[in-house]
Amino acid sequence: MSLTGLFLCTFLIVHLIGNLQLLINDGGKAFNAYAHFMSNNLFIQVTAKGLYAMILLHAIKGFLMALNNRKAAGGSRYAVSTSKNASWTSRNMALLGSWVFIFIGVHMAHFWRQMKWGELNMMNIDGVMVKNLYEYISVAYENPLIVAFYVISMIMIGAHLWHGFGSAFQTLGINHKKYTPIIDGFGKGFSVIIPGLFAAIPVWMLLT
Ligand code: HEM
Repeated sequence: MSLTGLFLCTFLIVHLIGNLQLLINDGGKAFNAYAHFMSNNLFIQVTAKGLYAMILLHAIKGFLMALNNRKAAGGSRYAVSTSKNASWTSRNMALLGSWVFIFIGVHMAHFWRQMKWGELNMMNIDGVMVKNLYEYISVAYENPLIVAFYVISMIMIGAHLWHGFGSAFQTLGINHKKYTPIIDGFGKGFSVIIPGLFAAIPVWMLLT
């Protein structure tokens, strides 16, 4: 769980850097060129298959762990961490993870499916015709309900990472007097800043 989780965190950084290009005021040129490159590069395509496998592995393992914990507790919902010190996020990792998993499904059915198989308008970038995914996303983010779904989902991801990031290092046995608080602090920052920037994209596109 920890290794797949940390891999998914690195994906989030790469994905965010790509998506931030949606905010460049160039009619979508930079973002469309990026999306075209990503969907035509062999290395990226092979890595993407690994990414889907990691998402599934992480979700299935998490689901089985939650099931086992519940069984071990004789059906009590709070048995995993009855400790009063256990945070809300640590007690609700399965719930948060399920939301994130459903979000990824809906999100891929929406944007990713369009990039792969959608009949989008084309844009000419330096003589190369590329799909105008930027236009499709801009229209989607004019809908406040879609934007709200994204913002709520980013809060869920942030909450999932709030506990998950530090927990991954603990599981890997990295428990150090000096470094663990630094890792935990980094994890908390990561879980606020990365989902925050993701959420800012649809909100910005709705408002501008
Ligand atoms: C504002 C937020 C986001 C935007 C605008 C966005 C946009 C996109 C777009 C346009 C694609 C298809 C592009 C392509 O395949 O080249 C895509 C794919 C994908 N997105 Fe997002 N995304 C956002 C947030 C997220 C988050 C938070 C996650 C994960 C929790 C995520 C997971 C994925 C995955 C797994 C794919 C498929 C990746 C691939 O096949 O390469 N996205 N996203």
